[in-house]
Amino acid sequence: MAQILSGLDISAEMRAEMKEEVARLKMSHSLTPGLAVVLVGDDPASTSYIKGKRKACESIGLHSVEHNLDTTQPESDLLSLIQNLNEDPALHGILVQLPLPDGFNEQRALNLISPDKDVDGLHPINLGKLVRGEPGFLPCTPHGVQQLLKRSGFEVEGKHVVIVGRSTLVGRPLANILSQKSEAANATVTICHTGTRDLAFHTRQADILIVVAGRPNTVTADMVAENAVVIDIGVNRISDPSKKAGYRLVGDVDFDAVSQKASAITPVPGGVGPMTITMLLYNTIWSAKKANGLA
Ligand code: GUN
Repeated sequence: MAQILSGLDISAEMRAEMKEEVARLKMSHSLTPGLAVVLVGDDPASTSYIKGKRKACESIGLHSVEHNLDTTQPESDLLSLIQNLNEDPALHGILVQLPLPDGFNEQRALNLISPDKDVDGLHPINLGKLVRGEPGFLPCTPHGVQQLLKRSGFEVEGKHVVIVGRSTLVGRPLANILSQKSEAANATVTICHTGTRDLAFHTRQADILIVVAGRPNTVTADMVAENAVVIDIGVNRISDPSKKAGYRLVGDVDFDAVSQKASAITPVPGGVGPMTITMLLYNTIWSAKKANGLA
């Protein structure tokens, strides 16, 4: 049976460190890092993610504000909100929850967020810095995966990392982060996607297999090498009448079978998800420090 990589435990450790840092910033510099979260519409998954982000902010003493827009509002309302948040000195981070509903242009919204408050790391300036290996905000899920591996003691240097999924939010930034010539990186990275021929051939080569495909059972046990480390980023709602909510969450990997073969695996929930929020908190604190000459 594989070792279970608990993002919950590692997040708790990191959040405890951050809580102390926030208390120090308040005490010594009268500085409270602040995050604004913007949700357009009422998609249940997005609503639930946002609730988790707000609770996490509260738990470590960050200031957080939430803005909910209706899908019937014009896009110009979203754009002027972002401009106001850019100018608010009490806010050091702005996150526009994705995906935006039809009729809203994601790139236009993301491009308008000040790169200095782009704690999601999705502005072209920050993605460009990432590709160039310059310091900047790293997207939270990829950064969380790197921290999860590092803090669980898995060296990625020289390893073959295979990523299934090429999204701008996760797959491509993750490939950039892990292939850089730097600490907790320097891996050989292969990106697979829906156009990949013989996906199983590639996944079986992986020392570390990272799956972010958005589909349950994308990776089955026959697709995994003996003793691989498997990171499952998928979050899928599966109908389950035995649950109060009527559904349960599963990842993109056949957990029961793959955990018999892998040396380590992340669960869903409780794996990468909490790490994403933890890195959002990290970026917000870093942003507040940078804005005040403390980083
Ligand atoms: N939707 C799912 N994950 C994310 C994320 O990390 N950031 C944003 N903005 N939207 C998301």
